[in-house]
Amino acid sequence: MAFSELFLQELAERNDIVDVVSGYVQLTKRSGSNLFGLCPFHSEKTPSFSVAPDKQIYHCFGCGKGGSVISFIMEIENLSFPDAVAFLARRAGMAIPEQEDDPNAKKRERMLSLNRDAARFFYEQMKAPSGAPAREYLQRRQLSGRTATNFGLGFAPDTWTSLTDAMKAKGYSEHELFDAGLVRHGKKGGVYDTFRNRLMFPVIDVRGNVIGFSGRILGDGEPKYMNSPETIVFSKSHNLFGLNLAKKSKMGFIILVEGNVDVASLHQAGFDCAVASLGTSLTPEQARLLSRYTNEIVIAYDSDGAGQKAAQRAIGLLEKLDMRVRVLRMEGAKDPDEYIKNFGADAFRNLLEGSENHIEYRLQSVQRKYDLQVDEQKVSYVKEAAGVIAQLPGSVEREVYAMRVAEQAGIPNTAVLDEIKRQRKNKLRTAQRELTREQLRPVRQQEKRSGVRYDNPHSAAAEEGIIRLLYLDSALFHSVQPPKPEQFSSPELRHIFTVLLEHAEQKRPVSLAALGETLSNQELQILTRIIQRDDASDRREQALADYINILNTDSLVSGETDLRAYAEKLKERKGYGGTK
Ligand code: GTP
Ligand code: MN
Repeated sequence: MAFSELFLQELAERNDIVDVVSGYVQLTKRSGSNLFGLCPFHSEKTPSFSVAPDKQIYHCFGCGKGGSVISFIMEIENLSFPDAVAFLARRAGMAIPEQEDDPNAKKRERMLSLNRDAARFFYEQMKAPSGAPAREYLQRRQLSGRTATNFGLGFAPDTWTSLTDAMKAKGYSEHELFDAGLVRHGKKGGVYDTFRNRLMFPVIDVRGNVIGFSGRILGDGEPKYMNSPETIVFSKSHNLFGLNLAKKSKMGFIILVEGNVDVASLHQAGFDCAVASLGTSLTPEQARLLSRYTNEIVIAYDSDGAGQKAAQRAIGLLEKLDMRVRVLRMEGAKDPDEYIKNFGADAFRNLLEGSENHIEYRLQSVQRKYDLQVDEQKVSYVKEAAGVIAQLPGSVEREVYAMRVAEQAGIPNTAVLDEIKRQRKNKLRTAQRELTREQLRPVRQQEKRSGVRYDNPHSAAAEEGIIRLLYLDSALFHSVQPPKPEQFSSPELRHIFTVLLEHAEQKRPVSLAALGETLSNQELQILTRIIQRDDASDRREQALADYINILNTDSLVSGETDLRAYAEKLKERKGYGGTK
């Protein structure tokens, strides 16, 4: 273990979870001691994200994410465990103790160095005589040599093992190449290069590491792009292409586009703040990452239907983080690259300056759907527009836009304002109801979200009860015979139980923060879900006895999945013993 438990506990004590989370999520008190807010890890309109100050944990009833203050920072800042620890230590002004060697850190470092060498190889291939097709393609797309250098573009030659051979010569194993997604296994054994005859875009993170690759076919053909798979250093949903450059831009905002070529083309035209999500629609993590570098985003997605739909989703995510969002509408071009080719950089600059802010954009999209000359359509328009305006936090802002809608529809202001008020009230009520429903949701349904499969649902509540008590009040176990790990029905619960029991037996204090290295992320989430439930603290001894009893009874019939057989067994056993 790289950090001592003592250190991790102190770290967690000095970084109160409410303080830390409040830096990212607006928390409000509802009932009891728990605080609630909108979950930063999934898109939602009503709060299902809770923080328990007494247990120092967070838990989302919606997406199931949860854990200690350290897990929170890992998730939200996209950091590894040691990096999150360093982050929190800095925050609390603590020194980090000397670390022992972490095998994962070694692996990551090795993969990053392999990626860097591979990027260099591709780059050299671009300059080599055999790189002519790639150079011609760049020329055709009007991308300059300087742009190619700026992005470290390269060429994966049209051969089966050039990269493999070059990297092996540098001392990397086939295994390492495979883990990095650079080779695939052939049918007859051996490996072959993943990327062949493609223009290579290295994906570089904000720290300057080459974390993966995106390879575009030269010209037409399928698939147009091939991307590195998810690896221990590469996660598509947590990174953005071009952010390593855009973060240094002086433009004051970031332009979000769809394609890698769009990014390169915009940078070349002087817009050095363009980034692209890596072939997915914008994720909450990417939105969060962007918010670390700017508070203003200009969305310049493709002008087709899919692009516009993706834009709407991105707006929602970015707005949640209090960012100013504008949307470019490019008439006469399918994407920014084409727009600049057709009309020039100055025209794009004009477009940027005149781009609509998001709410106007949304209202316009709503308006386009209806013919305001037709009465029924007018009513639908006002209803839908009011729904958009109802989401605005400021009352003055709401009034401004309400007036505009009223004018367009030719009806009194008050009619629109009343409709907005009605919709806001409804939303609030739904929010309340959903929250209550989530809190009352039975354990069984919540399990599905956290991915545990119980072989024996009957004992699930008992197993979780035992784990909860072991975590919250391990002294209870000094006077009872604890169950055996095999009695737990899922591997995750078994492992959690084993680890907790070990702490209890050695009378070591336990905290979620300190378990961050021993338990997997999924296990931490399961444990969080289990301990965030409250139980009557005055009946703990009895509860524990009951839980253990249930487990012992169930173990006798373990392996039985047929309920009828199970019932028979129970009957038999009762008749046999004759007592109790
Ligand atoms: P062009 O303008 O056609 O040269 O391409 P582009 O770089 O602008 O990309 P495009 O707008 O077509 O696609 C946007 C992004 O989606 C790309 O940068 C890729 O990350 C991703 N993408 C596109 N096509 C594919 C595909 O066939 N497979 C995968 N995995 N990703 C793709
Ligand atoms: Mn494009």
